[in-house]
Amino acid sequence: MMNALIWCAPYKVKVERVPDPKIINRRDAIVRVTSTCICGSDLHLVDGFIPFMKPGDILGHEPMGIVEELGPDVDTSKVNVGDRVVVPFPIACGNCFFCKRELYSCCDNTNPKPHLGEMMFGYSMAGVFGYSHLTGGYAGGQAEYLRVPLADVNCQKMPEDLDDHQLVFLSDIYPTGYMAAEQCNIQPDDTVAIWGCGPVGQFTIRSAILLGAHQVVAIDDEKKVPERLQMARDAGALTIDMRTEDVYDRLFDLTGVIVPDVCIDAVGMEAHGYRTIEHIYDKVKTNLLMQTERPAALRQAIECCRKAGTVSIPGVYGGLADKIPLGALMNKGLTIKTGQTHVHKYVPKLLDYVRQGKIDPSFVVTHRLPLTEAPHGYDIFRAKQDGCIKIVLDPAA
Ligand SMILES: NC(=O)c1ccc[n+]([C@@H]2O[C@H](COP(=O)([O-])OP(=O)(O)OC[C@H]3O[C@@H](n4cnc5c(N)ncnc54)[C@H](O)[C@@H]3O)[C@@H](O)[C@H]2O)c1
Ligand SMILES: [Zn+2]
Ligand SMILES: [Zn+2]
Repeated sequence: MMNALIWCAPYKVKVERVPDPKIINRRDAIVRVTSTCICGSDLHLVDGFIPFMKPGDILGHEPMGIVEELGPDVDTSKVNVGDRVVVPFPIACGNCFFCKRELYSCCDNTNPKPHLGEMMFGYSMAGVFGYSHLTGGYAGGQAEYLRVPLADVNCQKMPEDLDDHQLVFLSDIYPTGYMAAEQCNIQPDDTVAIWGCGPVGQFTIRSAILLGAHQVVAIDDEKKVPERLQMARDAGALTIDMRTEDVYDRLFDLTGVIVPDVCIDAVGMEAHGYRTIEHIYDKVKTNLLMQTERPAALRQAIECCRKAGTVSIPGVYGGLADKIPLGALMNKGLTIKTGQTHVHKYVPKLLDYVRQGKIDPSFVVTHRLPLTEAPHGYDIFRAKQDGCIKIVLDPAA
């Protein structure tokens, strides 16, 4: 038996003893988890915004660890017992139409419950660890051990000379921030505005700077999360306080007449809003289960983006939203780029950046807690208490 963080009901998670995972298929691996993180995406599940959880589901999709056991058909030229590996959150087959195009989060072969995605979205997405039955109902990585299907594709071998905190974010938020910026084709004179200074926003800010943006402006709530805005300034971004400043006017003042060229929503479906009638409307409608999202940041990103600019959406949305300014989107000729991150595609390049010292991803860690304290971790991460930006859980502590 092992410890794992399980979903019980909206706003209720606990650590419980559950059976150890076993090799089920011939290309599975069992990984002993050494570090595993709590993500803003987990909050959407715990807060009940994605309605496909069942009591007892193990959460977590940002793990790394040591391979303890392999099925008989794993390609051992790719991964072996004893290897140190990061496990990307989307589960890919490596061989379908989408995987061959490096669109791994769209993999067609790894979601055993595709009917849910077909019903919600028209087509199902890939399997994802610990991310509801919509993405296959796979057990997640906030546990002592994790079963990894198609291990020779989904276990990414890591070097021994970097520590867990430098590597574990290759499972999700570092590639997510990078893809959010990279897909905007940033030019040297571009101004990039980024909504949300959570962990994803932080990697987006650094990636936009790395990709040569002229100027990065980060937006969040200075009273609620001053440490996040400070971390953004430390990276070289200008900041706007969404609570006390008018974001559109301030962007205009800061950047001149026809920018920002690129607007990135790193907030997602649980955005907060102030002083807007649309946000009150969102709250009422989500409380009545008449819509699934509060898209306050996305609306602003679309409205603030310059004509013919790009709006990138790494923030997660799950269902239906209302009052999206389609007129602005269409008449300004905006390009929308979005998606669950194709993590596998980015791991080699971003690992190389860590090796070259271009970035040390451990900058974002504010807490390392024993896995047994994960429920407390969820509480402080949700409430943005105790200066919490990113929590890494330690199953062995
Ligand atoms: N696309 C992907 O593959 C992928 C991967 C990981 C995470 N995500 C998503 O990225 C989003 C951010 O994740 P995170 O871990 O950084 O979450 P987080 O909850 O820690 O951070 C969100 C931040 O947005 C701020 N915010 C709220 N409303 C705002 C608004 N109207 N304007 C500006 N800022 C606002 C909050 O104060 C907070 O600091 C989530 O939706 C998460 O699900 C997507
Ligand atoms: Zn995540
Ligand atoms: Zn595939």
